[in-house]
Amino acid sequence: MPAPLPPEIENLFSQRSNRHGQAAFTNPRGLEGRIALSAGYPDPSSMPRSDMAEAMRVALEKDGELALQYGANRGFDRLLEELQTKLKRDQGIECTEEELLIVSGAGQGLGIIADALCDPGDVVISEEPTWMGAVRHFRGIGVDVEPVRVDDQGTNIEELEATINRLVQGGRRPKFIYMIPNFQNPIGVTATVERRQALIDLAKENLIPIIEDDAYSDLRYRGERLPTLYELDDSGLVIYLSTFSKIIGAGLRLGWIVAHPRFISAFAALKQEGGTSPFVSAAVTEFCASGTLTEHIGELRKVYGGRRDAMVRALEAHMPAGVSWTDPDGGFFVWVTLPDGVKIGDIHPALKDQGVDVSPGTQFYFHGGGDNAVRLSFSFANEEQIDAGVKALAEAIRTAQSS
Ligand SMILES: Cc1ncc(COP(=O)(O)O)c(C=O)c1O
Repeated sequence: MPAPLPPEIENLFSQRSNRHGQAAFTNPRGLEGRIALSAGYPDPSSMPRSDMAEAMRVALEKDGELALQYGANRGFDRLLEELQTKLKRDQGIECTEEELLIVSGAGQGLGIIADALCDPGDVVISEEPTWMGAVRHFRGIGVDVEPVRVDDQGTNIEELEATINRLVQGGRRPKFIYMIPNFQNPIGVTATVERRQALIDLAKENLIPIIEDDAYSDLRYRGERLPTLYELDDSGLVIYLSTFSKIIGAGLRLGWIVAHPRFISAFAALKQEGGTSPFVSAAVTEFCASGTLTEHIGELRKVYGGRRDAMVRALEAHMPAGVSWTDPDGGFFVWVTLPDGVKIGDIHPALKDQGVDVSPGTQFYFHGGGDNAVRLSFSFANEEQIDAGVKALAEAIRTAQSS
């Protein structure tokens, strides 16, 4: 253990660092042997290990010199081409290379976008509850977050309009609206087309960019694909964000931003990394070009669709009266609302001691709330574990009700 630092060292840290605080160090090995219904980690048994090994071999043969070199700051050129093809085929997004930027995952992408648009004290709008990574980042950069409720049809438009009007009339134009239209993290709902269109109309009227986080886009298990905001928009105000984390492997650390070139050039200038991993990008290029990505997404839909069904079945079988939950068409998450009088803080420690991990609803709120809710992920645990984990949660709720 290094010697303690003198107390004055604390004065060295920036206000921004102090807002972010100190890291809670995590390690996926810590999930071994646990029933992990907490993290949005992809299924370990579906990792395409041999296909990726082959893609890496081919990439090194074809592009070895470039793959092991510093990279282009927009991203590996052949990956940009593959992404254009994928986005057109799977997301209905037609974009030029100037509208694309490769990043080290959607999390980094969101950080860069927020950094490029916001100064401390600015105001932004976000759906709530929302992805905990956004909650942490927005807190860290010192912006005021105005939350808008998500209901069973997506962002509540009346609330959004009232919030925008109040802020604009008060002379504070929001810097962006952050939303997850497909299989929202944490509640699992999908925004209707009407809501998507209304959001764009509001953004256009008020000149506010929308950050469309579409991390789960390809993982739809039922129903038809809905148009992305990027596809519906003609104003250049939508900034689209997605990732290979959920459809190949989160260990790639590879995602992308699609936006108007003016935004993209500002975002690219904030990246200091000598090109987002050209080596991994070259392998992913081969993975896409060979058709393996499309096949793999098909397999993942079956696996995760089965897990989704297993989780809903387990909830129906085990939960006491008064508990309700969402019924997602895709993605990784179900949002469970606890019965009156039961708080997640009452049951979380006991569940943890039994080896069952869930995500307390409080993690997804900016200014408090969510203590009557739990996010359950069905991506990482297998169907047997899902049943056992949901059963343990149900028993913990019953115990809390009777005490
Ligand atoms: C909505 C949402 N956005 C972004 C991310 C981060 O993705 P990445 O692994 O690409 O950083 C996640 C991951 O859980 C997510 O759920």
